[in-house]
This record gives sequence, structure tokens and C-alpha cells, in this order.
Amino acid sequence: MSLNEDEQSHSLFHQTSHPINERSKLNEEYLNKYETWKTQPGMAQIKLEFIDFDHEIRFKIEHLSETDKKLVTDTNNETNPAEEPKKKKFKGQNKKHLEINARSASNYNDHQLCYFVIRGGIANCSYQSNCKHSHDLTTYLSRRPTDIDSKCYMFDTYGQCQFGILCRFGQAHIDPVTGQNIIVLRPNQIYIEPLNKLPPLLKHLLRRKKYDYTLADRLVRIANKQITKVNVAKRNNPSTTDDDKANEKHHDDNDVGEKEDRSLVDIYYSALKKTDPNPIEANETENIKTDVPVIDGDQQQEQTSRPVPFRTLGAITDVDMIRLKPREKVRIDFNRRLYLAPLTTVGNLPFRRICKEYGCEITCGEMSMTTSLLQGQQQEFALLRRHPSETIFGIQLCGSFVDTMTRTVQMLEENFDYDFIDINCACPIDLVYKKGAGCAITRRTIDFERICRSISCLSTRPITIKLRTGIFTNENNAHEIISLAKSWKSEHDDNHVVDLFTLHGRSKEMRYSKSADWNYVDQCAKLSDPIPLYGVGDIYSFEDYYQKLNETNVSGCMIARGALIKPWLFTEIKEQRAWDISASERFDMLKRYANYGLEHWGSDHSGIERTRRFLLEWISFLYRYIPVGLLERLPHRLNERPPYFFGRNDLETLMASKLCSDWVKLTELLLGKVSSDFQFLPKHKANAYG
Ligand SMILES: Cc1cc2nc3c(=O)[nH]c(=O)nc-3n(C[C@H](O)[C@H](O)[C@H](O)COP(=O)(O)O)c2cc1C
Ligand SMILES: [Zn+2]
Ligand SMILES: [Zn+2]
Repeated sequence: MSLNEDEQSHSLFHQTSHPINERSKLNEEYLNKYETWKTQPGMAQIKLEFIDFDHEIRFKIEHLSETDKKLVTDTNNETNPAEEPKKKKFKGQNKKHLEINARSASNYNDHQLCYFVIRGGIANCSYQSNCKHSHDLTTYLSRRPTDIDSKCYMFDTYGQCQFGILCRFGQAHIDPVTGQNIIVLRPNQIYIEPLNKLPPLLKHLLRRKKYDYTLADRLVRIANKQITKVNVAKRNNPSTTDDDKANEKHHDDNDVGEKEDRSLVDIYYSALKKTDPNPIEANETENIKTDVPVIDGDQQQEQTSRPVPFRTLGAITDVDMIRLKPREKVRIDFNRRLYLAPLTTVGNLPFRRICKEYGCEITCGEMSMTTSLLQGQQQEFALLRRHPSETIFGIQLCGSFVDTMTRTVQMLEENFDYDFIDINCACPIDLVYKKGAGCAITRRTIDFERICRSISCLSTRPITIKLRTGIFTNENNAHEIISLAKSWKSEHDDNHVVDLFTLHGRSKEMRYSKSADWNYVDQCAKLSDPIPLYGVGDIYSFEDYYQKLNETNVSGCMIARGALIKPWLFTEIKEQRAWDISASERFDMLKRYANYGLEHWGSDHSGIERTRRFLLEWISFLYRYIPVGLLERLPHRLNERPPYFFGRNDLETLMASKLCSDWVKLTELLLGKVSSDFQFLPKHKANAYG
């Protein structure tokens, strides 16, 4: 869109700009209100001229859909017209008439078109007339829904659109006569697929429980023998907590079978040797299939004593073999890097791409559950996708037991591309907590140690730990966990088992209700040295960032909600300035996100609806941004709330709206109209999660 901001907001919204408040024209009541707000703690200081004192009236008249307008009128007619309108009904969030439409979008490919027809390579379908999918292109084209736009982002960017004739922007690349999907390959326009797609063979092995975890299982047995004295004492102490007893029981269950006395490293090497009875010469590797054969029954029995090789996507090379040596890890310099926190749902790949563009350095995938990964659940593996722009990328794992965690790490180590593993010891959600995962792990220090030791030995990539201050508000225990974990060293060399701590300065109990306790974060950072520790909590401006970085002992800061509300925070930090970003620049960012979403989730009907849903989830954070130019005083704090305000143009006003219906309107500008029964309720209340 090439319009300037004013043209843009006028042409898009057909509204006139609001009159700017003038002090001399405001009545006493409003001026008093304003003076009170100014002194109230927790109130954002909006300049007088932008405050929307008459919000209630405007709210009724301008921003409501026809249905909501009618509801307001009806409500007001029924009650005393002098009474305040029942505004609560229309506030957008948590209201019944806006509940999530959980039903997944119907698939426009109801013709069950063959993949090759969709992509324009019908001749490549080896089944031809026996294909169980439809080859009837003509019928499909006659019923094809109208396109949303004549330009397709994928086609413009890469010269081809992998969603072919199902693309809702398809007129850009569908031949109107033949219906063929046009591909124009131009130099410098090559589509690079995101990494970490779940390979079909791996999915097959996981679903059928045929993946060979011998290595992980042996390491777990050894790790049982290596726990530190503190934990040994705890194990022998009759006053052991229930958490630990549960853990012990599980431990014993796992211990049946082979007793190992050798060191982790010995086992590691011997397991490797066993994988490779006939070492492969480098020049012989080209024709060797490294995929694991599917084995069943007796065959599998036999196979269990023989760990499978580390699978590589191509031939096994010297580099691969070198990577296998324990503790020869790729080290990451964690000092003072801009780290985007893991964020369930909203921290998806398109969002991380946006953050990378604004200067973020470390990204981490959304929390993934080890049990779901081990079952080969496609959706869980989707959380591991990595965009090529993500230069330092971590996978966050949430699990409770050493065997499942270690098996998962083995499977990831052998098949996926990432730079570090982060163990979630911070998630406060009850469902997770009751299973002994998330922040409950830190109550089970014996298991915690075994998990860290065995995955650290197995992994060639660093292990990081995400913590909260503790479970209860006045019972911080992160310092105990940190000093315990700091005492764990690899027996192979003198390296620490844990490579980085990240500490969210709130307890499980606190969720987001109070400010993060940076004094405590600082104490923990001092204690963790030489292991780096990143502080997390409430960073929303470059001032916040440098104050934490320079005045405490942390090695860096992790940013969560600050990045969700204003992803350009990374640029502000790098350039040490408050960026008065315009509404059209922000709209442009939404446009980029929508395009990345279409690329990631698809530009067919269901992909568009998924993109829309994730965009809406994000907007449920973005609307909280207050433009710098409207603020009386900087920096604005994350937990300060504003009165209703106007933007400097209608687009800016719209982007600050609290109404779900306005958020939907924003998505319609990018992704086309929603159906009449479309409903949405944000998934996140920011008081949940790590
Ligand atoms: C929507 C949302 C999703 C989150 N998801 C995760 C997650 O998957 N894993 C995790 O460790 N923490 C998660 N967190 C916690 C953040 O990583 C971070 O620790 C917390 O929000 C404090 O930082 P902040 O004050 O900068 O927001 C989430 C937080 C939010 C708001
Ligand atoms: Zn076919
Ligand atoms: Zn397309």
C-alpha cells in the first residue's frame, strides 16, 4: 500500500479525524478527571489533547457493528435512557457473543483435488487414472471462490506459490485459460523452506513406537548413579517430600533391568561403536540410506541392544562423527544478546521473523510437550519449525521425567536443527504443574538433576533452564536450584551441565499480578556466576533494558510481553531511542506478518483463517501500545494503563481499540472479509504461562 498515512486512514475507515481537545474548551469535570489521573499510580500519562473524555458516547455510535448498535439501542430503550449504556457487554474480551469459533475453517478443497493438480504438475501424478484424489480441474475452476486480492505474496516473492490453485490470491499465478499454476523461477527468488519439518519416516517410527532409544535409556540409567551428595542425602532422608517419593518410584520403575557401573562417557562411546559395526569410509557413504528401517516383533527385540546410528539427512560425514563426541558442544556466547522469550501461541514462526527483522538475536520456539513429541503428534512438531533467519534458535521442552526428556532430546539431536535446548521449569499452569512438569520440576531436585545430566551428556548443543523465583510468593527458591545446578559438572571435562539460566522474577503464585523482583534476580545472577543468567520480567523500553543490564549482575535480558506489544523494542534497544513509530509503519508490520502467516500456514482458505486467528491473538497484545507522541512522560511502563485516547489519525485510533470487532476489522484489511458467524476470543490471559 503506497498511500501516505492520512490518505490511508481516510480511505480505509471513512471517518473524519477527531477534534483535538483544547484545555480552554474542556469543562471542569474533565479537567479534574485529568488532574486526578495524572497523580494516580499505575496510570499512563496521555497528553490532555488526546484523551477521549467522551468515549462512551463515541463507543455507542461509531465503533459498533450494526448488530451491536441495535443491541445498544434496545438496551437503552428498555432501561432508563439516562442510565449509562451497558458497556460491559461490548468490551470485546470474554464476552459470550464473541467467543472463539473453535470449529476449524471448512476446507475449500472439498473436491479433494490431487496434490499434483493443485501444484500444476498433473503429469507427475504416478497414479494417473487410479489416483484416489480428483483430477477434475475444470469443475474445480468453475466453482473456485473469488480471490481476496490479485497479488500473491508467495508468487511475487519466490516466483511460485506452493498453494497453487487453492491459493485465494491465485489469479496472480493461475493461467485463466488452462487453470495451470504458473511458476516463474527467477534468480535470487528461491523459496527456502523453514527447517525442522517432521520427516514422514520419523513420524511413522514414533507413531508405532519403533524409534530406537537405547542410547537415551542407557544414559538415564547411568545418570541415576551420578546425583550429587545433596540429592543423595535427600534420597536417603525419611522426610523426603511427596514429590520426591513420586519421583523415586518412577526412578525405580525405570531401573529394572541392566545395572550399569560404567561412566556416562564410556556408555556413550560404546553405544556409538555398537551403532557402527562396519565403519563407513567417507567415499562409500553416498549411496547409503541412513533412514532407520521399520522393524517389528522379534526383530525389534534384537534391535534394542543395538542403538541406531545418529541419523543424518544426507551421508554420514566426518563432521557428523565429530559432533557425536560427548560434551564437544557448540558453545553459544550468551553475553548481552537480545533474547525473545518463548511464548506459547503468539511466539509463532511468523512473529519471530518480525522480531528478527527488528534486531532480536536469540529466539526460542513455543513450549513443546515431550509426551506429545514422543507420540509423533504433528501439531507439536509444528512448534519446532525454524525460519532460516533465526540465527540462534532454541527448542523449549516441557516434561516431567528423565526418561521421556532424554528420549526426546535423543530424537531431536538426531533429526532436527536448533542451537540449544531450553528446559521449561517455569510454566505455572496447573495442568502442567500437577504432572510434575514446568515449575514443579524444581521441587523434584533428584529428577531435575538426572534430567539435566543425561540430556546434557547426550546433547551436542547447550542446555538452558528457564526458572521462576519459586512456587510461592514469599518462598523464593530459585537461588537454591541455581547453586545446586551450578555444582553439576560433566565428568568428561570440567564443563557445567547447565549452560544458561533464565529467571522470570515472579513466583508461580504471582503470575503477573506484581512487578518482577529484579533485586532477587540480581542476587541469583551473582550466585550463578560463571554460568550466565538472563533476567526476565517487565522490560518495555530501552531504559528498562539498560538499567537491568548495567545495574544488576545479569548477562542479558529476555523480553516477552514487551516484544508482543511493540516488537520494534529490539530496535529501540539497539539504537537507544524511543521510536515514535507511525500507525502506517505498524500497519505495514501487520501486513508483513499476514504475508509470513500465509507462507507458513497457507494461502488457501484454511491457511488464511489460521493466519487470521494467530494475528488476532497477537493484536490482543498489540492494541496495548501507546504511541510515544501521545505520552506526557517517558518511558511508559508495561503495567501502566491509559484512559481511553485518540490516535493522531484514525488508523492509530483503530489500532488502540479494545474491541474484538475492531481487531477483526484490521484482519479484514489484510486477509479479506470474515464470514457472518465468525467469532473470536483471545486465548491468553497474560496471567498464565511461564
Ligand atoms: C502469552 C504468553 C505466552 C507465554 N508462553 C511461554 C512459554 O511457552 N514458555 C515459557 O517458558 N514462558 C512463557 N511465557 C512467559 C514469558 O516467557 C516470560 O517469562 C514472562 O512473560 C515474563 O516476561 P515479561 O514480563 O517480559 O512478559 C509466556 C508469556 C506470555 C505472556
Ligand atoms: Zn493424482
Ligand atoms: Zn498464491
